[in-house]
Amino acid sequence: MSPSSDQFGAKPAVLRCSRCGRFVDWEEAQLQVVCTCRPHLDLPPVLVREATDQDREAARALFARDFGRTKIVAFGEVMDIEPMPSLVAVMSNEPSGALAYRLLGDALHIVALATDPMWQRSGVGGYLVAEAELLARRLRLKRVVVATTNDNLPALYFYQRRSYRLTDLVPESVTAHTHAQQSGFAGIPVRDEIRLAKAID
Ligand SMILES: CC(C)(COP(=O)(O)OP(=O)(O)OC[C@H]1O[C@@H](n2cnc3c(N)ncnc32)[C@H](O)[C@@H]1OP(=O)(O)O)[C@@H](O)C(=O)NCCC(=O)NCCS
Repeated sequence: MSPSSDQFGAKPAVLRCSRCGRFVDWEEAQLQVVCTCRPHLDLPPVLVREATDQDREAARALFARDFGRTKIVAFGEVMDIEPMPSLVAVMSNEPSGALAYRLLGDALHIVALATDPMWQRSGVGGYLVAEAELLARRLRLKRVVVATTNDNLPALYFYQRRSYRLTDLVPESVTAHTHAQQSGFAGIPVRDEIRLAKAID
């Protein structure tokens, strides 16, 4: 069965405006260049743990909110993130972010990563990815891999800032799955899958 457009590509994710703090729809968001004037905020500590059964609903809600769905297409497969193992980040006893993963050959594949817009730019995403890398190391895997789409400039920035390297471009892979033109981050057409990887020592 070919996946419908709500399973891939369209991304009604919300981000938080770094200037005014309001939530912004994915298509309305814009990139902004800033210098190091941005103040460091003192925020509650972030605790990252493997999701328990009790965390699952919160993780599902975070993914559903950020991705608008719980099915992801990447690396040529359609995956349901709901039953996947997940890490959750907790701040002030509230789930603030989640990362779903699976094993893919010699790699840990980050299938989905979402931070509650309320807690974006609080370290949540970084701690979740760092924990996924620790897990990959413990499992003696060689790499952590992730796929995103051509429009997702925040994710391309976020991962490359954390030493992920671009490995593959799968042109028109999104269009092939959705059979429709979709508008992504800042209205950029969503077309291609972009894969990144980081070697684990
Ligand atoms: C991409 C995404 C996961 C990033 O998550 P995040 O929790 O905001 O990430 P972090 O807080 O760890 O890092 C973001 C920035 O905040 C900064 N930051 C972290 N803590 C901070 C603090 N206390 N004060 C000021 N800045 C801080 C980080 O330095 C980082 O900036 P830098 O990369 O320029 O150094 C998030 O934007 C998101 O959920 N996007 C929508 C879903 C998505 O696209 N997921 C990825 C698809 S695979």
